[in-house]
Amino acid sequence: MKHILITGGAGFIGSHVVRLFVNRYPHYHIYNLDALTYAGNLENLKDIEHRDNYTFIRGDIKDKAFVDALFKTHHFDGVIHLAAESHVDRSIEDPLIFVKTNILGTIHLLEAFKALWMGSFQGKRFYHISTDEVYGSLGSTGLFIETTAYDPNSPYSASKASSDHFVRAYGETYELPYVLSNCSNNYGPNQFPEKLIPLFINNIINNKPLPVYGDGNYTRDWLYVIDHAKAIDVVFHNGENKETYNIGGCNEWKNIELVRLLCKQMDVKLGRPDGTSEKLITFVKDRPGHDLRYAIDATKIKNELGWEPSVTFEEGLSETIDWYLNNDLWLSHVTSGSYQDYYKKQYN
Ligand code: NAD
Ligand code: TYD
Repeated sequence: MKHILITGGAGFIGSHVVRLFVNRYPHYHIYNLDALTYAGNLENLKDIEHRDNYTFIRGDIKDKAFVDALFKTHHFDGVIHLAAESHVDRSIEDPLIFVKTNILGTIHLLEAFKALWMGSFQGKRFYHISTDEVYGSLGSTGLFIETTAYDPNSPYSASKASSDHFVRAYGETYELPYVLSNCSNNYGPNQFPEKLIPLFINNIINNKPLPVYGDGNYTRDWLYVIDHAKAIDVVFHNGENKETYNIGGCNEWKNIELVRLLCKQMDVKLGRPDGTSEKLITFVKDRPGHDLRYAIDATKIKNELGWEPSVTFEEGLSETIDWYLNNDLWLSHVTSGSYQDYYKKQYN
């Protein structure tokens, strides 16, 4: 029986990773450590919460004493670290919480893992989940590869870049066995409606304006979250020690084109005349420091580990919309309370 700690498992990507591991590896015990911030939601894991090989632990990675004690109690053989503050717009409002959770929190986990296994790292693994945003912005051509220099532009990406550097440093300095991956924008079920796709789905349902930042000509490379979870499984089990893998959808969309596709699909699913949702598009003030384009070259993970995306964007988007339409209770729970305050502040 292996003891695997997944941090941030009540969040968007983490919940899909927890589900995959609990179902696929009955001989592992999966511990999900999550502080249940605004972004963490145990409703994401209702289907697996009573499984014998699953334990939820509510706790904060910012709390060093708590993290140290947890590792001493459970002797985790592996860590898959997803817990983070993850939204760029929030990082612009309050950078400090990103420093505390994303940088300090990561170091607390590294320290606890080191204290537990230093001198006997054989068979152990620390997997740090990161983002392509650490590479900064591309111009209209080119792709991020694993050796692209870090050049983060937002407090969020700067905090993730810093945590990546600490993970590498623990590998070099203490021989701590790590793998790292940098992934492009995810979408799919259970994503908190502050990010582009679920925010716009929710607004279309409610006939609210769709706030497109700037001229909408910003480009992102979108990956279906379940494909990301499968990539994390492959990297955790088969990735080379001290290596980084870029994970991406090979699926670039300008925001405005993505939003138009979303509007078309939503009109069909909601039985509204074609063009109804597009009328909600509203161009608003741009995000400061807005990165023009992200795009991943995922050749390394494909050639070395045999992973590639399995879902086309049209299929993934359609499944995502269906999920939100079928889970109106989930959506109404997460959009009540503090969400309304955030929305008013962010979008006036
Ligand atoms: P999310 O915001 O949906 O979930 C983050 C989870 O971490 C939440 O459950 C939250 O409660 C938990 N958390 C936050 N602070 C914590 C703390 N101090 N202690 C313990 N738990 C805490 O994020 P996500 O979109 O699922 O992203 C997960 C990871 O993947 C992050 O590290 C993010 O940087 C990375 N990533 C995300 C994307 C994306 O498109 N969403 C792309 C690439 C990489
Ligand atoms: P987001 O989902 O916040 O992800 P990230 O900033 O990590 O890429 O945003 C995706 C793109 O959509 C990004 O270019 C910003 C843009 N965007 C809008 O135009 N309006 C919005 O309300 C949001 C949240 C994002």
